[in-house]
Amino acid sequence: MKVAMIGTGYVGLVSGACFADFGHRVVCVDKDESKISRLLDGEIPIFEPGLDALVADNVKAGRLSFTTDLAEGMKDADAVFIAVGTPSRRGDGHADLSYVYAATEEIAALIDKYTVVVTKSTVPVGTGAEVEAIIQKVRDGFTPGEHFSVASNPEFLREGAAIDDFKRPDRVVCGVEDDRAKEVLTELYRPLFLNETPILFTQRVTSELIKYAANAFLATKITFINEMADLCEKVGADVQAVARGIGLDKRIGSKFLNAGPGYGGSCFPKDTLALVRTAQQHGAPVRIVESVVEANDTRKKSMAGRVKAAVGGDLEGKTVAVLGLAFKPNTDDMRDSPSLDIIPALIGEGASVQAHDPESMNEARKHFGDTITYCDGPYETLEGADVLVIVTEWDEFRALDLARVKEALSAPVIVDLRNIYRPDDMAEKGWQYHSIGR
Ligand code: UDX
Repeated sequence: MKVAMIGTGYVGLVSGACFADFGHRVVCVDKDESKISRLLDGEIPIFEPGLDALVADNVKAGRLSFTTDLAEGMKDADAVFIAVGTPSRRGDGHADLSYVYAATEEIAALIDKYTVVVTKSTVPVGTGAEVEAIIQKVRDGFTPGEHFSVASNPEFLREGAAIDDFKRPDRVVCGVEDDRAKEVLTELYRPLFLNETPILFTQRVTSELIKYAANAFLATKITFINEMADLCEKVGADVQAVARGIGLDKRIGSKFLNAGPGYGGSCFPKDTLALVRTAQQHGAPVRIVESVVEANDTRKKSMAGRVKAAVGGDLEGKTVAVLGLAFKPNTDDMRDSPSLDIIPALIGEGASVQAHDPESMNEARKHFGDTITYCDGPYETLEGADVLVIVTEWDEFRALDLARVKEALSAPVIVDLRNIYRPDDMAEKGWQYHSIGR
C-alpha cells in the first residue's frame, strides 16, 4: 500500500514510520520546510524513544520519505492520513479545525484515483462528514465510496511509548462508511491482524466519539484517584493502597490510578474540554467530564500551596529546587504540564526557582525565559535550595543518592508530587517528606 501522511508532528511522524515498518511505502508531507529539511538530514524534531532508529531504518530501506510537496506525497496513494494539529481554540475550548480543513481542500484538489482520506488527528464528532462535504465541494461530481472515502482512525499513542503502542495496541478503531475504505484500512493494518489485535470497525461518527470517550474516561480515572488522595490525607489513609485495593477488581483495573499533581499533556486537557463543548452544543452535557476539567485545573493551581506549607507557610526569599518539568517522563513535551502552573505560582510567592529536566530544558526556556535558573543535573539543582519538589517521575530521580540530596539542601524537606519514595523509609532517614495521599 502507498500512504501519504500529512503533518510530521508527533502523531504523523510516529504513525508514518510505523506504517513504513509494516512494509508500506509512506511519504510524510509537511508545509514546514525547515522541519522537512531536518528530517531529510536524518534529524528527528521530537524526542521519542526508538523513533530515530525506526525512521533511519525505513528511510534506508526506501519505504519512508519526506517532502513539502503534497502532490508528490499523494501520487498513487491508496490512503491519505490527516495528522495535522487540532489545538484548543482560544476563548471557547472547541478544537481548532482550520488546519484539518485547509489540508482537506488541498487533498481534494489532488485526488486522481480512488483514495481513502483518513482523519488521524483527534477531531470532534462530525468532522469526517465535514471533510467529506469539503471534498465534494472542491470536486463537483465526486461520490463517496466511488471516487474517495473518508474514514476515521484515531490514535491512542502515549508519548514515550508511542512506537510500542502503535505496533502492539490494545485495539485499533476504524470508522468507515463503505466497504472499500474498510478493505484499504484492513490491508494497512494487516500485520496487526496477524498479531490478533482486535480491529474494531464502526461507523465514522462512532469512531470519532470513541477517541474522546477513551481520553475523557482515563482523565476521569486520574481525577478520581487524585480526589481520593486528598481525602486520604484528611483521614490518614494511603492512596496507593486504595488504588491497589480497587484496581485489583477487574471491572476497575489497576492502570491510571497513580495520584499526582493533575494530568497534563497534549491530549487530556484539550480533548476533555472539546468533549465538554461538543456535548453542550448537542444538548447532552457530560457533567462528569465538566467536573473533571474543573477539578484538574484547580488541582494543578493548588500544588504550589503544598510547597508553601512544607516550608512553614512563607516562600518569600526561599529557593525551591524543581526536578521534572515535562508533563510526564520520557518526553520533552511540556504542553499543559503541571510545572507550568507550579513554577509561576512559586515565583509569585517570592521564591527563586532552580530547575532541571532530563529532556525538556529547551522547551522550558521558551516558557520561563530568565525567571528561573536552569541546572544541568539534579544535584546542581539542589545546591543551596530550601526544599526539593519532584514534579515529574523520571527514573533517574527515583535513583537519587538521598544522602547527597540532604547535604545539598539547606533543610531536609521534599515535596514529592509523584510518590516516588516511601514515606516510612524517608521518615527513618530524617526527612520531612510530603507526598500525595499518604
Ligand atoms: C494520552 C493517552 O494515554 C493516549 O491514549 C492518547 O492518545 C493521548 O493522550 P499521553 O498524553 O502521552 O497519552 O500521556 P499519558 O501517559 O496518558 O499521561 C497523561 C497525563 O496523565 C500525564 O500528565 C500523566 O502524568 C498523568 N497521569 C497518568 C497521572 O497523573 N496518573 C496516572 O495514573 C496516569
